[in-house]
Amino acid sequence: MKAFVQDAYGPLDVLRFTDVEQPAVGDDDVLVRVHSAGVDPGVWHLVTGRPYLLRLAGYGLRAPKDRVRGMDVAGSVHAVGRDVTRFRPGDEVFGTCRGSFAEYACTPQSRLALKPANLDSVQAAAVPTSGFTALQALRDSGRVRPGQRVLIIGAAGGVGTFAVQLAAEVFGAHVSGVCSTGKVELVRSLGADEVIDYTREDFADGTRRWDLILDTAGNRPVGLLRRALTPKGTLVIVGSETKERWFGGVDRMLRALALGPFVGHRLRGVVSTERAEDLALLREYLKDGRLTPVIDRTYALAEIPEAIRYIHEGRARGKVVATVA
Ligand SMILES: NC(=O)c1ccc[n+]([C@@H]2O[C@H](COP(=O)([O-])OP(=O)(O)OC[C@H]3O[C@@H](n4cnc5c(N)ncnc54)[C@H](OP(=O)(O)O)[C@@H]3O)[C@@H](O)[C@H]2O)c1
Repeated sequence: MKAFVQDAYGPLDVLRFTDVEQPAVGDDDVLVRVHSAGVDPGVWHLVTGRPYLLRLAGYGLRAPKDRVRGMDVAGSVHAVGRDVTRFRPGDEVFGTCRGSFAEYACTPQSRLALKPANLDSVQAAAVPTSGFTALQALRDSGRVRPGQRVLIIGAAGGVGTFAVQLAAEVFGAHVSGVCSTGKVELVRSLGADEVIDYTREDFADGTRRWDLILDTAGNRPVGLLRRALTPKGTLVIVGSETKERWFGGVDRMLRALALGPFVGHRLRGVVSTERAEDLALLREYLKDGRLTPVIDRTYALAEIPEAIRYIHEGRARGKVVATVA
């Protein structure tokens, strides 16, 4: 099968589009014929091996442990292991795997769910990583409650577009979204009660305060973000892109966690996890229309390096997806 393979960390040209063996199917595994594969900013980090912290986090010290990149997948079940009870060949599924930038991907059955019929495979492949992150940041790290005032920074990005919808439609919060001028209408259409164009307005000028701030972009210092919190408010650092080689965008999260015990604000980070229960929840929200993926653009599988380059520029408007078959 064709796949993007990586044998060393480095610039995007370490990715080779080549023929590899189909992954072996374990007893609890599902082999998926990939139709679409979601792309997100984390892929750039896994290709380059930066920040170095991620190598220590188990992805491989000198070279990546998994050769094929890509986590988010939507496709049809091609084969199942003998212990698989939830799926059979032909089922349309979505979820996560190790190696979706390929024609076939293998993953444990718990990482997949049936694709909602109202979504096409591009929309379904856009969901898992960003959806998990938005859900877990709001619910688990943020402990969001109905009626709270929630500010989402990076509201038009991959995580932000899910976070705005979840905060408004699922958790019943009053949502303010922060984005650039051209994305104001998009963020409003996702259910934000108020949209702040950060090129014109400073949300941290002290005139407004929020119970919960979810920060997915912009690298604003923790001290500045705290100025926009209510006295007992919560800040959740989801991520941000920097060129720092050791910690990258994680340094702000670490600083917030270190400061947390000494201040009245709750300062939290989030490390999203692939949970079967959360995939099932997201599926319900997608089915009943409370969540609709926003697709910025699609690329062919062979164009994966361009897709990663585009995402890494940090100007995405929703999600980027590679179409495979
Ligand atoms: N902690 C975790 O588990 C986890 C999981 C997934 C992702 N992440 C990280 O979270 C971050 C966001 O991911 P993503 O997928 O949402 O990224 P994305 O799709 O690339 O979106 C980034 C968004 O940031 C906006 N932006 C850029 N500068 C901004 C600024 N100064 N103020 C406000 N918004 C700004 C951009 O829109 P404009 O053009 O409007 O500026 C863009 O829509 C990344 O760093 C990613 O690595 C963390």
